This record gives sequence, C-alpha cells and structure tokens, in this order.
Amino acid sequence: MVGRVRLFGCGFALLVTGCGSSTPPATEPNPPHPDVIAPAPSAPSSGPDTATTPSAAPTAAAPPATTAGIPTASPRDAQLIRGRELYAAECASCHGATGHGGKSPPLVGLGAGALALNPPKTAKYRKVQFRTAADVLDFMVKTMPPTAPESLVPADAHALLAFLLEQNGVAWGSEPADTTVARRLEIPRP
Ligand code: HEC
Repeated sequence: MVGRVRLFGCGFALLVTGCGSSTPPATEPNPPHPDVIAPAPSAPSSGPDTATTPSAAPTAAAPPATTAGIPTASPRDAQLIRGRELYAAECASCHGATGHGGKSPPLVGLGAGALALNPPKTAKYRKVQFRTAADVLDFMVKTMPPTAPESLVPADAHALLAFLLEQNGVAWGSEPADTTVARRLEIPRP
C-alpha cells in the first residue's frame, strides 16, 4: 500500500512535478522570455549606456570630423575671415563698409588713390610713406582706430592687413599675412 501510495505519490509527484516541471517550464519559458525580453529592453536602457557610449563615441567622433572639416579652411582663409569681421566692427564706421571711404579716407582702391605713397596734405596722423605693406601695418597699429591707438594685437593687425590687401587685389602668397610678409611686399602703384 505504502509502495503504491509512494508510487502513486511518486507517480503523482512525478506527474505533478513532471507536469509542474514540464508545465512550468512551458509556462515559465514564456514568462521568463518576456522577462528576459523585458530585461533586454530595459537592459538596453542600461545597455544603451553601453550602446550609448559606443554611439556616443561615433557622435563624439562626428564632431571631430566636422571640426576636422573646418580646418579645410586654410589658415590664410581663416585670417581673412577674421580680418573681415574686425574691419566691419572696428573700421567700417569711418572708412566705409567696403573700405572705399566714408568720413575717413578710402583704404581700398589703389588706383583711386587709396593708401597713397605720400600722406595727404590734410593728414592729421600720418607722417610716413606707405612703401611696403609693413608701413601700412605700422601705421595701423600705432594710430588706428584713432579712439584706441595701439589697441590692435599683432594677430588682429595682421588679419586686418590681409583683408585690406585682399580687397585691393594685392597677392602676398598662400600663407597668412604677417610682419615678415608685409616687409617684403611693396604696395603696387597703378
Ligand atoms: C573714428 C574714425 C576711424 C576709425 C574707427 C578708423 N579710422 Fe583709420 N583713419 C581715420 C582717419 C581720420 C584717417 C586719416 C589719418 C590722417 O589724417 O592722418 C585714417 C587713416 C587710416 C589709414 C591710412 C590711410 C591713408 O591713405 O593715409 C589706414 C591704413 C587706416 N586708417 C586703417 C584703419 C583701420 C584698419 C581701422 C580699424 C581698426 C581704422 N582705420 C579705424 C579714421 C578712422
């Protein structure tokens, strides 16, 4: 009897266990999956951290690519852009938006007398001749703008000179303009 019961119990237990173990597995596998799947989606939230890091890396790698794209603007071009900005901000109010003159003498238009070799008779500040671009540079740094003489730092003065040379169609090479370049560069007299 006991054996039967045991068998029964066993068999029952096996059945139950079997059913339970086979059913639960069948039942569990489903829930577990959703759970596993759920954790997966929710894991992605932690995985995204991992994935975010990799994807953040590409994102972070992208800006460098963009930043790397900017350097395609040559140092010379960058200097010209800076010069144009400075001119508009610091000089255009007196010398005109395009440098062709306003209430103050023109700086653009060599053929029309801009940056003439000799100072105009009416000149208030200029006592020097403009033979080379360096003469113009010196004058600019020492005198301009009249409200803040000697306020231009070298890089800005060079950028302004580059801008003025460009506007006047004076070629100086493929490098940014600086004092060395300016000394060698005679202002062409049309
Ligand atoms: C407040 C008005 C004013 C501003 C702003 C000004 N200038 Fe002038 N600039 C003058 C005047 C006036 C002269 C004529 C100087 C003279 O009479 O000796 C002059 C002359 C010059 C000359 C010499 C022109 C020549 O043919 O003799 C240069 C170059 C020049 N300025 C560059 C600049 C630059 C670059 C800036 C901006 C950083 C600037 N100026 C800002 C008023 C101004």
